[in-house]
Amino acid sequence: MPVAIITGASRGLGRALAAELAGRGWRLVLDGRDAEVLRSAAAGLERTAAESGAGGHTDAAVVRAVPGDVTDPAHRAELVAAAEQLGGVDLLVNNASALGAEPLVTLAELPVAGLQRALEVNVTAPLALVQAALPALRAASGSVLNVSSDAAVEAYAEWGGYGASKAALEQLSAVLAVEEPGLRVWWVDPGDLRTDLYAAAVPDDPDFAERALPEEVAPALLRLLDEKAASGRYTASALRDGR
Ligand SMILES: NC(=O)c1ccc[n+]([C@@H]2O[C@H](COP(=O)([O-])OP(=O)(O)OC[C@H]3O[C@@H](n4cnc5c(N)ncnc54)[C@H](OP(=O)(O)O)[C@@H]3O)[C@@H](O)[C@H]2O)c1
Repeated sequence: MPVAIITGASRGLGRALAAELAGRGWRLVLDGRDAEVLRSAAAGLERTAAESGAGGHTDAAVVRAVPGDVTDPAHRAELVAAAEQLGGVDLLVNNASALGAEPLVTLAELPVAGLQRALEVNVTAPLALVQAALPALRAASGSVLNVSSDAAVEAYAEWGGYGASKAALEQLSAVLAVEEPGLRVWWVDPGDLRTDLYAAAVPDDPDFAERALPEEVAPALLRLLDEKAASGRYTASALRDGR
């Protein structure tokens, strides 16, 4: 069975992607800082996978919770080691993210330390995790899915620090795709989602209740896997519309 590492998988989009993959019989290594929340999410996914008999692994442990912070090099090494124990790395999803300020503020007010944290979590850690997983990814002709944002390419007031970090993630992804033609590298804007991250960014968003749930978006993102999509930038809205 193929193996995926998913960062930020205890809730939101990461957990929704993990649930989709668990349902398809994938073996999963999940990351998040809050160990209790992560273990509870992993146990729930494992139960669902066992109940659906996904991949025939009805009693095998297919979901490993590896708590930690993606900015910690030792934790990143643990994630890759756990995946290798399960058979390798077929897919790396860099999904964990930091906003830089909660709620968001203008660039005039953005603490420099907040921007540094956003760059650490959203750019440095994903690259370092790609580097750590690269031998296994190359061996599997695997895929990297870097979760970006429309804030990477649009100038929205107050989204400057976070958007700059996602723009950097997108450029790293594009260059990685050129340098590693044996891999598939996708960088994806999932659209606005009804999650903790969005609520922390814009606590009084009047349209929050109408935002898509991550569970509605995750299947569309996995079309990239199903269709062995070429490396490139994708949006969830186009993938959901079948484009
Ligand atoms: N929500 C939106 O509207 C939206 C729009 C565009 C793009 N995105 C992107 O979509 C992705 C998922 O966001 P979401 O809305 O699903 O967020 P979310 O619901 O807040 O979930 C974030 C996940 O990341 C984990 N996490 C955060 N910082 C971490 C760190 N330093 N190390 C390890 N794990 C960490 C969190 O668990 P812990 O807190 O326990 O660590 C949690 O599991 C992000 O890349 C985000 O930028 C979201």
